[in-house]
Amino acid sequence: MRSWLSTRRGKPDLPPLMLARFEEMGFDLSQFVPALLRPPSQTFRINTLKAEREQVLKSLSYLEPEPVGWNDLVFRIKGRLKLGNLLEHFLGLIYAQDSSSTIPVTVLDPQPDEEILDMAAAPGSKATQIAAAMRNTGLLVANDVSPGRIPSLTGNLDRSGVLNTVVTRLPGQAYGHIAAERFDRVLIDAPCSSEGTLSRSFKALEIWSKSAIKRLSTTQRKLIMSAYYSLKPGGVMVYSTCTFAPEENEGTVSYLLEKFPQARVESINLEGLKTQPGFSEWRGEAFNPAVKNIIRLFPHQHDGEGFCVARISKPS
Ligand SMILES: C[S@@+](CC[C@H](N)C(=O)[O-])C[C@H]1O[C@@H](n2cnc3c(N)ncnc32)[C@H](O)[C@@H]1O
Repeated sequence: MRSWLSTRRGKPDLPPLMLARFEEMGFDLSQFVPALLRPPSQTFRINTLKAEREQVLKSLSYLEPEPVGWNDLVFRIKGRLKLGNLLEHFLGLIYAQDSSSTIPVTVLDPQPDEEILDMAAAPGSKATQIAAAMRNTGLLVANDVSPGRIPSLTGNLDRSGVLNTVVTRLPGQAYGHIAAERFDRVLIDAPCSSEGTLSRSFKALEIWSKSAIKRLSTTQRKLIMSAYYSLKPGGVMVYSTCTFAPEENEGTVSYLLEKFPQARVESINLEGLKTQPGFSEWRGEAFNPAVKNIIRLFPHQHDGEGFCVARISKPS
């Protein structure tokens, strides 16, 4: 076991290189690290494929759910009750989902009767949210390369009453070729170094390293290019990660803009959400100025996992 994986009072010592990078990103470690390791409030999304909003709010009123603001189907509760253990979750009336994880699909804004690709979909938190926004119409392709993660994806689609979705198990890189200019919208919730999830689980520490960031950013560049190819002219895609690493966020989006200068990184405004703009540079390398429209969520400012979200459109 790596030495920094030993825990003190249940909290890990973060790798020195990770802490040095956070400092380089401009974080005050005395605020940032405790917030990063503190579990955020529990949140749930109402699944409108199976339940009425008011009916769910009535049956869960004992939890005193508070709306998050930017999405009227997402609620925060007080206390540490595990929402994933509730009957309402097993019945698919709600989906226990971190508040930050609900943002990429809110930003994607799926519509009924569209054709949409969720390129890295397992275990399906966002695919089920997309299908609900589409009201089970049109076509959702929920893809994931990992055979071991497909059962959780199909299980969550079933539990949520999703009927408009086909599941595929391909490298996302393939879609640009096999389905060029096919989709109205694409979500790439990319495989990433998951630094923003440390408040819920220390699993990310098992794979985290400088070389992992490099390897992941190479895959992300291929996925974002494939997604852009698979988008119809006039289509919209969202690129998201749950990590802070600039190489995996602004670096990936800048790479797309280098290859396709006509792609537009749109601004994102969500009511009541405290966000920061994308970084303008990292280690002396300037990013494309358009990446300032990326939103970043930090755990010392937002009660949820660390996240990064970009909305990108393809001209007609
Ligand atoms: C952040 S997780 C996705 C979470 C999912 N969107 C959700 O909301 O439940 C990233 C996923 O990318 C998948 N993945 C990794 N490399 C991939 C690739 N080349 N093509 C497609 N999926 C990939 C992983 O198996 C993993 O399930």
